[in-house]
Amino acid sequence: MGYPHSHELEVGTILSRHFGDPKARDLNTWLTYGGYEGLKKALEMEPAEITTVVKDSGLRGRGGAGFPTGLKWTFMPQEQKGPHYLCCNADESEPGAFKDREILRWVPHLLIEGCLVAARAIHAEHVYIYVRGEYFPFTNILNDAVVQAYEAGYIGENILGSGWNCDLTVHIGAGAYIAGEETGLMSSLSGGRAEPRIKPPFPAQSGVFGSPTTVNNVETLAAVPMIVVNGSDWYRQWGTEKSPGTKLWCCSGNLERPGNYELELGVSLKDVIYEVCGGAPNGKKIKAVIPGGSSTALLTADELDVPSTYEGLQEAGSSLGTASPIVLDEDVNIVRAMRRIADFYAHESCGQCVQCREGTSWVAQILRRIEVGDGRLSDLDTLYDLCEQLTGRTICVLADSVVFPLRSSLDKFRGEYEALIGGRP
Ligand SMILES: Cc1cc2nc3c(=O)[nH]c(=O)nc-3n(C[C@H](O)[C@H](O)[C@H](O)COP(=O)(O)O)c2cc1C
Ligand code: SF4
Repeated sequence: MGYPHSHELEVGTILSRHFGDPKARDLNTWLTYGGYEGLKKALEMEPAEITTVVKDSGLRGRGGAGFPTGLKWTFMPQEQKGPHYLCCNADESEPGAFKDREILRWVPHLLIEGCLVAARAIHAEHVYIYVRGEYFPFTNILNDAVVQAYEAGYIGENILGSGWNCDLTVHIGAGAYIAGEETGLMSSLSGGRAEPRIKPPFPAQSGVFGSPTTVNNVETLAAVPMIVVNGSDWYRQWGTEKSPGTKLWCCSGNLERPGNYELELGVSLKDVIYEVCGGAPNGKKIKAVIPGGSSTALLTADELDVPSTYEGLQEAGSSLGTASPIVLDEDVNIVRAMRRIADFYAHESCGQCVQCREGTSWVAQILRRIEVGDGRLSDLDTLYDLCEQLTGRTICVLADSVVFPLRSSLDKFRGEYEALIGGRP
């Protein structure tokens, strides 16, 4: 195959090198690890130069959609007076995803530095890090690091004598998945409910408090300092042309070695599951993998030999998402697994759109009926119909999120549904 396999990978190169090392949380130790060198370099660069390096590196947003980061930064109006903001999205709530948590927990200064470099690139005077409410212990670690960085002059007025000012506030959310959607996040941050709104206007036009804003994921921002220090070609030594760099993988479910792994993009998904994570425990066969977190279409065990890039997973009919494969072994009841996913989205729907508010609940109810043996064959038609009604008709894509795993499970595991239904029309 033309793409790298896991034995050729460097693991833990950029983001995770200091995971598990509590000393890395301390500023003085962090400086001996090369901390804040990216910020120092960025302070000597023009904002547009920083954006160009990040653009050339090909870094793509790690919040799920894979939007090119440098390109997003160019959308911020350069000449417009008044405040500009950077929001770091640390709401991480997608079932299966647990990578941003590890960055907050082990390398908070890497994230702070990434935020400051990005803020300088987009002319932001204030950074907000919006942290998922349930991440309280990790927020404490982040807060301690922010205090240290303020005291040492890395945040605040006249940063390191450069004349540039930038503040940073850590904001704790109340624990809603929908606050991770960028317009919901900004609404929550501005004092409203975490309810998404239609775009346009896009955040760069009207974001936090109505001002130009960029929203970036924790992992995206944490990759920035080393790209600035080492250059775009250095970052491109990993991954593929369209999906460069390394990625934190959150591997969960029926695996011998579940966990967090930093791997080069482009590695075969099959290698991630079998070589890196050891396959399913107790010699069980793998039935399916939901590759990118719970909102992505599932792949059967025969479909795993695909390059784990944004384009590779898309060609395979799924999505890289947050690179959070959930592995289901031969004993897993697919209908039950889908019902649990549907329950999650039904619970987390903000309720603004009828299709989403009602449709996600109907999906969950129908799946529950099939699961307990009260389903009918016509339920499968109704589920397909609901998939249509939930796709592309709502303010945000939470509604679509339930469709990807559901429709793929209906297409690929119809036999399991029919076995539970037992021929009732
Ligand atoms: C329902 C929903 C939930 C989301 N949750 C998160 C989240 O928890 N963290 C995140 O970074 N992005 C999340 N996103 C994506 C954000 O809207 C946004 O695209 C992302 O934060 C941009 O950062 P990036 O360009 O660095 O990926 C979510 C999107 C949707 C539709
Ligand atoms: S799709 Fe669902 S979560 Fe998104 S805005 Fe509409 S009701 Fe809210």
